Amino acid sequence: MAITAPRGTADILAPDILKWKYIEKKISEISSRFGYSEIRTPVFEHTELFERGVGDTTDVVQKEMYTFNDKGGRSITLRPEGTASVARAFLEHNIYAQPLPAKLCYNITCYRYEKPQAGRLREFHQFGAECYGTSDPTVDAEVISLAKTVLNELGIEKLTLNINSIGCPSCRAKYNEALKDYFRPYIEDGTLCGTCRERFDKNPLRILDCKSPVCGEIAKKAPVLLDYICDECRDHFEEVKKHLEAMGIEYNVDGTIVRGLDYYTKTVFEFKTALSGTAGTVCGGGRYDGLIEQLGGAATPGIGFAMGIERIILALEEAGAMPDLSDVPDIFIANIGEETKLFVTALTDKLRKAGVKCERDLCNRSLKAQMKYADKCGARFSMVIGGDEAEKKSATLKNMAVKEQTEVSLENLDELIKIVKE
Ligand code: HAM
Repeated sequence: MAITAPRGTADILAPDILKWKYIEKKISEISSRFGYSEIRTPVFEHTELFERGVGDTTDVVQKEMYTFNDKGGRSITLRPEGTASVARAFLEHNIYAQPLPAKLCYNITCYRYEKPQAGRLREFHQFGAECYGTSDPTVDAEVISLAKTVLNELGIEKLTLNINSIGCPSCRAKYNEALKDYFRPYIEDGTLCGTCRERFDKNPLRILDCKSPVCGEIAKKAPVLLDYICDECRDHFEEVKKHLEAMGIEYNVDGTIVRGLDYYTKTVFEFKTALSGTAGTVCGGGRYDGLIEQLGGAATPGIGFAMGIERIILALEEAGAMPDLSDVPDIFIANIGEETKLFVTALTDKLRKAGVKCERDLCNRSLKAQMKYADKCGARFSMVIGGDEAEKKSATLKNMAVKEQTEVSLENLDELIKIVKE
């Protein structure tokens, strides 16, 4: 049987690859406008990084990680997300000693063993941004604005921004008690799933994002964290909202958002597109003021987000907002007979070096077949080189769309280049 790509992964082929390149280019331009510089970290890390960073009671760590022992017996995990890796790099390379805030962004593949569906893969791509070194509410708003700008400028206009504050460890302690009081009867009568029973003792907040429908139904009526946050967290949240308003960014406060990763504190947010279901959540993020300390560094606040590129593509296509992208040759140069091949080799080379997207026959086809190929690959211009053309050093340039013909010099290529690059 033929070997296929593993379930939940996808090959990206032409012409779809043009969509990816378009999105990556836009993202790179916008993130540099906001002062973010790119960081590249390894695809795999020590498992402990995610256990400590993302949290060992999260679904991601408990159920979804691709973890294996390498040949040296070390436990290795394919990164399920980027924040923990970037935080590790921030510490490892003493980025904290450079002028802060440190603004870092990344385009990465991530790996989660999830049930594949529209917009949910096992290997997926994220654009993410992280900002370290300030807990000022202005940065929360700026990070949200970066995410919104990227999505808007890509062409996703129909967006809902949901925000919440999930407080700091001190308000969380009070809230955990309230949650335990609420869930205790369901633990006692065995309604909650086994994983949630474990979470009840270790981290009751995680019961709120259990994917089991029974637990989900019970969680709907659980106390809301926003009602338990301390004055400092509330003031911080109010300031974030004011800065969003100053930029005209509309938001909904949704007290039920807790997000599925343990490192979050205070502000959390997500952007939803018009697509329904999982695929609709195109971006998620929040503040994580305890993560760097948890990984062994000095207390350093941080905030960031990540957006799923596959989900961005789905949203753009659904909205009919994906631009018409094409990557066709400027010119196809056909040759008649063996003896003109060398001439075409030299001509093609000169044109390519001058920035022209130039194709020629590589399969020893007949002239008729070469012209058919030129048509199929969408070349905008074509030219046929026979013995005469090679000798006269001039040829007829044909515009494939309007069938217009122009005689051009092959000695001085300026005119030819000017016409095909127009
Ligand atoms: P997350 O919410 O787990 O957050 O993922 C962020 C985004 O990645 C999601 O909103 C979604 O668009 C995309 N995504 C997640 N899982 C999948 C999947 N299985 N298939 C396709 N797309 C997916 C994080 O990863 C955090 N590290 C975000 C962050 C950065 N928070 C602070 N800084």
